[in-house]
Amino acid sequence: MQLHRPVQGTMPPPLLLLHGFPLDGTIWSPQVEGLADATQVIAPDLPGFGSNQCEVPAVLTMEALADAAVAELDARGIERAIVGGLSMGGYVAMACWARHPDRVAGLVLCNTRMSADTPEGRLSREETARTALEKGMELIARAMVPKLLAPSTQRRRPELGHALEALIARQRPGAVAAAARGMALRPDRGAELTTVSVPAMVITGDSDALMPLPTSLAMRDAIPGCGLAVIPGAAHLPNLERPILFNTVVRGFLEALDTA
Ligand code: MLT
Repeated sequence: MQLHRPVQGTMPPPLLLLHGFPLDGTIWSPQVEGLADATQVIAPDLPGFGSNQCEVPAVLTMEALADAAVAELDARGIERAIVGGLSMGGYVAMACWARHPDRVAGLVLCNTRMSADTPEGRLSREETARTALEKGMELIARAMVPKLLAPSTQRRRPELGHALEALIARQRPGAVAAAARGMALRPDRGAELTTVSVPAMVITGDSDALMPLPTSLAMRDAIPGCGLAVIPGAAHLPNLERPILFNTVVRGFLEALDTA
């Protein structure tokens, strides 16, 4: 029999989970469900994505997305949360630390990097933005899914690939272009990460070619006292590819906070 801890008393702070590009908050469904007994889990759609159909500017900076993430906390009357983000969500989580450190009770940085884009990377962002606006999202969805999932995930769970393709295809081209252009402008966060004074953890997949292991090691080394978990048999979306393992890692992080 599984014993659930009570949803009160010594609960850790709420966990705010920020999705990657060009996805939406539904990628965190296994965490919203699987960690509900550990703490309050919030997984909003960032502006322009999923059900968040607000008007977005031509460029959505990571700073603007961080302000929107903090507004999600305000709307729920939450003063401080553990901020977790995957890939682009990780860029937003780091921007939250840079802009709103008093709202951040912990950081969980998944499959992301602290460095800025290279000049070539920026050009490729602009190409993505133009493809989204001129050709639509189906093309991007088909090209992207094989890069998100480990070969073993694609073999074991072909339905996950299909669901992700549909999820990407239904995102709005304007928001996707704006976020691509915003990611191109993000600064290097290396110096800011050395100032992190809250518990932090880096998580990645052992097969993530988009964010190879050295990017995670660099963040782990920059953040004082930071932990690292490498999920086997997962690529860019370990929270979906190996949800039980991923949740076990996050649960351990929450429990360590709880007793800290
Ligand atoms: C993401 O998954 O959010 C993207 O891979 C981030 C990026 O393109 O840098």
